[in-house]
Parts: sequence; structure tokens; C-alpha cells
Amino acid sequence: MTKKVHIRTFGCQMNQADSEIITSLLQDEGYVVTDAEDSADLVILNTCAVRENAVEKIMNALDNLKGKRRSRPGLLVGVIGCVPQYYREKMFGMSESIDFLAGPDTYRQLPLLIENAERGIRGANLAHIPDETYHGIEPCHTGSISAFVPIMRGCNNMCAFCVVPFTRGKERSRSTASVIDEVEQLVEKGYKEITLLGQNVNSYYDSGTGDGFAELLENVGFAAKGVRVRFTTSHPKDISESLVRVIAEHENICNAVHLPVQSGSTRMLELMNRGHSREEYLEKIAMIRHFIPGVTISTDLIAGFCGETEEDHYETLSMMEEVRFDFSFMFHYSVRPGTYAAKHLPDDVPEKIKKRRLEEVIALQSRISKELHAVEVGNVVEVLAESESKRSKKKLMGRTGTNRVVVFDRGGYKPGDIVSVKVNSSTSATLIGYPQ
Ligand code: SAM
Ligand code: SF4
Ligand code: F3S
Repeated sequence: MTKKVHIRTFGCQMNQADSEIITSLLQDEGYVVTDAEDSADLVILNTCAVRENAVEKIMNALDNLKGKRRSRPGLLVGVIGCVPQYYREKMFGMSESIDFLAGPDTYRQLPLLIENAERGIRGANLAHIPDETYHGIEPCHTGSISAFVPIMRGCNNMCAFCVVPFTRGKERSRSTASVIDEVEQLVEKGYKEITLLGQNVNSYYDSGTGDGFAELLENVGFAAKGVRVRFTTSHPKDISESLVRVIAEHENICNAVHLPVQSGSTRMLELMNRGHSREEYLEKIAMIRHFIPGVTISTDLIAGFCGETEEDHYETLSMMEEVRFDFSFMFHYSVRPGTYAAKHLPDDVPEKIKKRRLEEVIALQSRISKELHAVEVGNVVEVLAESESKRSKKKLMGRTGTNRVVVFDRGGYKPGDIVSVKVNSSTSATLIGYPQ
């Protein structure tokens, strides 16, 4: 009988891309992927450890699975990804519902771990394999319009607050040839949008000379003519003029740059070990806007990092006003044991103040996004239709090249089409309109 696996993915796009690699690996073992957890023989939780609440979500999911295992003996549960890599074998003691553990570098060992689990042997493989890029495994891309293509794994940056260097290990890049090969296959299959992924794509290197990521992006731009190309994440200290020129010169490379700043205060940026000041960040923004008129810039922000004063917080708010980010991912600081900050910097901003500052950051971003969106009313924007709108079957949802979400009357269009949409209203999150 065919065995069914349900994979639940938490965390960032790298984890989503990893789940596509795991799907491919397990399909080769005869597994069929199911969306219905209740009918699965094997449930895999691909986990995120970036903030404490991300870990809580996994513990809740495991609690939930406890009851299901009682009513369905034989149901196996694997916890993989960043949480077990971080907490290691100690995870077995955190929940009795776990049959096996694997980390981001050991997915090739999953068949063996599953086989052992079937024989009642609880096992873990949490090795760091510094050169693992999953070369030779063709990911099973979900969806048919947009695809993620990881170009590198790991991170060498050691930002003081962040677990990623510990969970994903040292940075390593895929070869240009294998990235281009995957991009060409996706284009041939009819994908309309490709997003290159890495924790810090600007550090991409192959054997070439100069700016490795600018060269790769240029090659991808040519290989994916007529297909939208995006990338994430760029690091402000490393984003270069040559990269920005490549974006400006290629019509199919989207004019949207996600450039996490975390804080508007140079003092905080130093404590965070981000490697740049407020002024240097603003210079990079000016350079990007100079070469790519109309570009949208988005960011990540952390409220209430160690030692953050009201003045530091106001510097974040004033930076938001100055840059006018299109959107932000906003968080309050969460201590992650083992990081530099957890070891050396007191978490001295009271929870209540962290939350109040985060609320102020969110309210300001919402106002800025609303204002930026309102400017588009009356304009015609080019949208890649992605799916039916959640609220109405008569509408489609898509994005502009600048990464703005657009909901519009379906007309005769379908997901995958490029549609010229006249914008007739807007909110802080969405542009609303009809096909021109
Ligand atoms: N590599 C990317 C970068 O450097 O911008 C993103 C990495 S991280 C997965 C995504 C975001 O989570 C970070 O940009 C940061 O804003 C947030 N983050 C990371 N660690 C955090 C922590 N300990 N507390 C709160 N937010 C955190
Ligand atoms: Fe974490 Fe910094 Fe690396 Fe991003 S660049 S993954 S925030 S250590
Ligand atoms: Fe989370 Fe790991 Fe991504 S910690 S954000 S899933 S790299």
C-alpha cells in the first residue's frame, strides 16, 4: 500500500524550498504527499527557531499530534529543520510524540531515519555538513506560477540576535551551472516568476571574478527572459552598485528590493553587529533609488533590542519616515539562547515597552503603506495573476513587479496571466481595480 506523508512547513522561504527538496526525496522512496494530516502515515514538521513564539507553535503542533498518535497507532512524526538543529537530542525530552529528528544538512538521511522509526528506533541526525547544497536533487516545486530557487545555504554574518548561523551553519553557494540549469527547466515548464533565495544573497560566490551575485543575477535574467526574477534577502552592508545596475538593466528583474535594516539607530546597529550605520544604510537607499527609479523598498525591523532607549526607538520611526518602506516585517526582540546577545547583552527592555514600541512601528508602517498605495489610485499597473482572491471567486489576486498585492475583477483572466489593471481604490495592504 502507498504510504502518505504530510509535510507542515514553518518559518522562512528557505524552509519552504527545503520542503520541496524533501518531497522529492520521499517521492523517490514511494511516498505520496497529502495535504490532509489526518490521512497521513507520516507527519513531518519542518521547523523554525528564529523567535520564541516560532518554537511555541511547533510545541503546540506536537501536543496536537499526541492525541492523534493515540487514536492512530503507527503514525510516525518527524521534527526537522532549525528547531532540532538548535535544541538537538534534548528535543526528544520535550515531547514524546517525536520519532526522529533531522537538521537542514541531513535530509538525505531521512529515508534511513524513517526506516528505523518504523522499527521502533528513535533516531537523530543533526550533523552540520558544510558543503551540502542538495546538488543532484530536483525539488518538487509546489504551484505552477512561482518557484523558489535556493542559491546558497547557511550564513556567516553572526548578527547578535540571530540563531540562523547556528541552525543552518556556514555559508555555501550552489554552482552557477546548477542554478541556471534549474532556472531553465522552470522556464521550460512555464513558470512565470522565479525567486532566488539565500540568507544573504549578496555573499553568493562561484569561481567567477568580482561581484558573484550580480553576475549570477545577470545570468538568471538572461536565462529567464520574459519571466519575473526576484531575490531575497539582501544585506545592506553588502548590496553593491554593480548589483543595482543589473536590476536596472534587465526588464524582467523586478524593481523591488528587500533590505532588512532592523533598527534606525547606529548605536543599536553596532550592538546588533549589522556592519553598517544608519547613514550608510540611507546612502545605499539613495544609490538604489538613483539607479532604479520607482523601485519599492521593504525591510525587517526589531523593536526593543537590548539596551534600546526611547531615542533609539524614535530613530527607527524617523528612519521609516525618511525611507518610506513599502512594507515591513516587524517583530519585538526575542532572546535566543546561545546567540551573542543572549550571552553578552542584557535583555533589559521590559516586555510591555517592547510591545508598545512594536505597536508604534506597526501603526506607522500601516500609515506609510496606505499613503504609498493611495498614490497608485488612477494608475494602470502590470500584475502577474497568482490565484483566486480569498474573498471572492469573481476576483483574482496578483502582484506588481514592485511586489504590491493587487485584487482585481477576474474578467476572462486566469492565474499565470499578466494583466494591466486600473487601480480604483487601495488599502494599506492592497491595491484594488479592474482589468484595463
Ligand atoms: N537573513 C535575513 C537578514 O539578514 O535580513 C533574514 C534573517 S531572519 C530569518 C528574518 C528576520 O527575523 C530578521 O531580519 C529579523 O528582523 C528577525 N529576527 C531574527 N532574530 C530575531 C530575534 N531574536 N528576535 C526578533 N526578531 C528576530
Ligand atoms: Fe541572521 Fe544576520 Fe544571517 Fe540574516 S544576516 S540570517 S539576521 S545572522
Ligand atoms: Fe526560521 Fe530557520 Fe528560516 S530559524 S527563519 S526557518 S532559517
